[in-house]
Amino acid sequence: MTEIPSAAIWLKPGQVARRAGVAVSTLHYYEQVGLITSRRTPGDRREYRRDTLRLIALIRASQTLGIPLARIKAALDELPHEHPPTKRDWARLARQWRTDLDRRIARLVALRDNLANCIGCGCLSLTSCPYTNPEDTLGEEGPGARRLVSE
Ligand code: FES
Repeated sequence: MTEIPSAAIWLKPGQVARRAGVAVSTLHYYEQVGLITSRRTPGDRREYRRDTLRLIALIRASQTLGIPLARIKAALDELPHEHPPTKRDWARLARQWRTDLDRRIARLVALRDNLANCIGCGCLSLTSCPYTNPEDTLGEEGPGARRLVSE
């Protein structure tokens, strides 16, 4: 069990940082760029609503996938701020992101499956290139590794 009592709704920055696995300075940065919000106690100390942990977890997971912070913020801006987002709110976000995530998954799968084969990059350096990309015909489709590009 973590140090955070399960009944706790408002958490101190240190509690959030430890549970989320980030530095307190990262919380301040996320707040500065409008990704998360906090409130101030009568003693002027920051407190974060517990569901901020879910926001931080999704921000970190999305960043790991290479999704730009601005795109993450645009999506999270769709969520309500006055109360913890509901399952329906998250489902709406999931629908919005599904196409983008599917495209990223397709690229990752293509990279995984083609890493040992010709990726259509124009190098013609593998024994499979003359068969997969004879005389770099894939280059006529456009720049880059044409077999890793998912339209
Ligand atoms: S791997 Fe580069 S053209 Fe085949």
